[in-house]
Amino acid sequence: MSRITVIGGTGYAGSAIVAEAAARGHDVTVLSRSLPAEGVPGVTYVQGDAADEAALSSVISGAEVVVGALAPRGPLAESFRDVYRSIARLADTNGARLYLVGGFSSLRPAAGAPRFVTDLSHAPAEFHHEIRAGAAVVIEDLPATPESLNWVFVSPAGGFGSYAPGERRGEYRLGGDIAVQPDGGGEISGVDYALGFVDLIEKGDHHRAHVNLAY
Ligand SMILES: NC(=O)c1ccc[n+]([C@@H]2O[C@H](COP(=O)([O-])OP(=O)(O)OC[C@H]3O[C@@H](n4cnc5c(N)ncnc54)[C@H](OP(=O)(O)O)[C@@H]3O)[C@@H](O)[C@H]2O)c1
Repeated sequence: MSRITVIGGTGYAGSAIVAEAAARGHDVTVLSRSLPAEGVPGVTYVQGDAADEAALSSVISGAEVVVGALAPRGPLAESFRDVYRSIARLADTNGARLYLVGGFSSLRPAAGAPRFVTDLSHAPAEFHHEIRAGAAVVIEDLPATPESLNWVFVSPAGGFGSYAPGERRGEYRLGGDIAVQPDGGGEISGVDYALGFVDLIEKGDHHRAHVNLAY
């Protein structure tokens, strides 16, 4: 059993990870600006803004694992990378492992090939900012953290998202920074992404690594 704090644990990806981790008996704490109408039994929900260092500190202190499931949208559109830098610093200070929910476009289609984010003609323009901000976290910000921080950036398949929640198959494939399904991006449901995500936390055998989950 681990003490896991999920920043943004009421959103699409975050709530699936929270439900999976709690079902496996982990001690889960969530930080979000609003409380869920119906939370997962046994989970501690804390209301606060991740842009507020004191709020972050209070939920990261004492955690063994910190999960970032924020999205670079709305008020976080411009401050997303700064907030994740703060989360990374606090996780490192507290000796916690850091696992971030990432995006598909930071992956590569093949070894040595440019990442998908270098050509966004495949993605609608309204998502370009979100895609670039998310990719910059794994391309620039996480590699710049102290070596003492153990981070894992977990990209989903291209077809992952709240618009396509899918169902539980109880399976997934795990890849590194080369997309498991490069052609068309592939798919993975929210619950199966969470299954793979919590498996990564429990196994703990990745260190400062970019991985991806897809069927
Ligand atoms: N196919 C893909 O590549 C793909 C598809 C979807 C998502 N993603 C990525 O996955 C990540 C998560 O996306 P998502 O769709 O799961 O996001 P989401 O559903 O919008 O969830 C965001 C979560 O963060 C919380 N939050 C937002 N601002 C906050 C703040 N200032 N302080 C504390 N909590 C805050 C929200 O709750 P409150 O609003 O109550 O604070 C919510 O719990 C993003 O990085 C996104 O880019 C990738």
